[in-house]
Amino acid sequence: MFAQSSLTGSKAEQYAQLLEQARGLMHGEPDRIANAANLSALVYHALPQLNWVGFYFFDGTELVVGPFQGHPACVRIALGRGVCGTAAQTRQTQRIADVDAFPGHIPCDAASRSELVVPLYLGEQLVGVFDLDSPETDRFDADDQAGLESIADAFIKTLGPA
Ligand code: SME
Repeated sequence: MFAQSSLTGSKAEQYAQLLEQARGLMHGEPDRIANAANLSALVYHALPQLNWVGFYFFDGTELVVGPFQGHPACVRIALGRGVCGTAAQTRQTQRIADVDAFPGHIPCDAASRSELVVPLYLGEQLVGVFDLDSPETDRFDADDQAGLESIADAFIKTLGPA
């Protein structure tokens, strides 16, 4: 059984602990669905003020919802659409303090106020995005972005060499 221990210390220290927990959960496991499911659960329960944590995977045409924690979400998102499609298309993490101020934001859960989306690329190949929503405006700072990008990178490394 995986016993999730609570995070302690500075924010950077907490993200270092969370990254270790994530690596432990995914150790030796190459299945992307299994790892995405466990990562969603790990992060959702470890971090405060989140209402949705999960993955969208690229099916060759658009993003399709994958494993997540939170309320049911929109199933398909075109590249370039919404925060997720923008992250996938630009290859840049989207850290949105106020989703209502983001043109084209796709509301899945009406409670969401801010959002962080990390694009997932294996080399040049788009895998999908890692998406986190918060009911709090401006929930994600630069430390959150760095910590969650590291966790996304650990996920990508389970998929094999780039
Ligand atoms: N808000 C996202 C859609 C996905 S949900 O937040 C789960 C977007 O604008 O792409």
